Amino acid sequence: MKKIAILEGDGIGPEITKEAVLLLEEVGKQYGHSFEYQYGKIGGVAVDEEGTPLPKETVQLCKQNDAILLGAVGGPKWDQEAPSRKPEKGLLDLRKSLQLFANLRPVNVYSALLDSSPLKPEVVRGADLLIVRELTGGLYFGEPRERRSTEQGLEVVDTLFYTEAEMERILRKAFELARLREKRVTSVDKANVLESSRLWRETAERIAKDYEDVSLEHMLVDNAAMQLIRDPDQFDVLVTENMFGDILSDEASMITGSLGMLPSASLGASGPGLYEPIHGSAPDIAGLSKANPLATLSSVAMLLKYSFHLTEEANAIEEAIEAALEEGYRTQDIARNGEKVISTEEMGKVVRVHYREITLNKRSKEKVKQS
Ligand code: IPM
Ligand code: MG
Repeated sequence: MKKIAILEGDGIGPEITKEAVLLLEEVGKQYGHSFEYQYGKIGGVAVDEEGTPLPKETVQLCKQNDAILLGAVGGPKWDQEAPSRKPEKGLLDLRKSLQLFANLRPVNVYSALLDSSPLKPEVVRGADLLIVRELTGGLYFGEPRERRSTEQGLEVVDTLFYTEAEMERILRKAFELARLREKRVTSVDKANVLESSRLWRETAERIAKDYEDVSLEHMLVDNAAMQLIRDPDQFDVLVTENMFGDILSDEASMITGSLGMLPSASLGASGPGLYEPIHGSAPDIAGLSKANPLATLSSVAMLLKYSFHLTEEANAIEEAIEAALEEGYRTQDIARNGEKVISTEEMGKVVRVHYREITLNKRSKEKVKQS
C-alpha cells in the first residue's frame, strides 16, 4: 500500500488532480499496486476555510504520506490578502517545511508537438534538458524582506541569502542526476555582479572535482535565457538558484509548446517528494474542463519514478501521453488552427486508454517471449 497526499489547491487544481488520481488507479489496476489517497488543503481554499494558506494539519498529512501530488495555488480572489495569507505562501512554506531543496523540471519535446512551440521546429527538435532549481533558499526566503516608510518615501528590501552548504547540496544533486543522463552540467549564475553567484561558481568548481566523469560549464543567467531559445539542444542538466530557476523554467516550457506540458518533482534529502505541474492555477479557465492535464499526468510519472522507483509504470505514462499526442488529441493550449480541441476529462481518458493498451501490449509480448 502506497500513500499519496493530494493537495488540489485552487483554480484548475481540482480538475487536473482528479485526472491524476484516475490515472494512478489505472496504473494500480494494470500493475497490481494499490494507492491510498489523503486529501489536504493548501492555497486560497485553505485561506478561505482555515484562515491560513498552509494549515498545520496539511503539513502533518504530507509528512504521513509517501509522496505528495499538488495541483496549483493562487488566483485574483486573494490578490489583496496580506503577504502571510497569500496562497503562494502556502506552497513556499510547504517546500520549506519539508526541506524540498531540489526542484527537477525536465523539458522534453514531443515530436507531435514540434509545430506547437512558438519556436521553429528546427530549433526545438532534439531538445531534452533537465532544469535543477534550488527551491528553499535565495530571494524567496531571505530576511529581512520588508517595506519601510522613511522621510524620503517608501523603501523596500528583499534578501538574497545562501549558505555554502545549501549551494553544495543542490550542486551535488545536479551532478548526480547528470550521471544518469549525458553527463554535462551547465551551472547558471550572475557571477559578474552578485556575490552569491561568485560563491555559487566557486562551489560548483569545487564539487566538480568529485565528479570527473561529468563536464561543468558556467553560464551567466542573461546569456542562458538567450541560449535556451537559440539552441536548447546544447543543454543537458542546467542547475541554478531559486529565482533564476523560476524564470528560466517558464521560459523553457515554451520549447515544448505550452506551460501546460511541464511536470516537476521537489525532493529533499529524505521524506516524501512533492510533485506538481509548473503552471499556475489558471483561474480564467477554472471549472471549464479546458485545462491541459498533461503536466500533472507527467508529474504522476515522476512521482512513480522518484518516490516509488516504479520505472516501468512511469515510462508507460510517458508513452501513453506521447501516443495520445501522436493521434492528434489536443487541449486548447496546444492546438493549432483547425485542430480539434478536447476537454481536460477527455484528455485524461485518452491517456488512460492508451496506458491500458500499452501495458497489455507489453504483457502479451512478454508472454510470446516466454512461450
Ligand atoms: C513555480 C511557481 C511558484 C514559484 C509560485 C506559485 C510561488 O511560479 O513553482 O515556479 O515561484 O516558485
Ligand atoms: Mg514559476
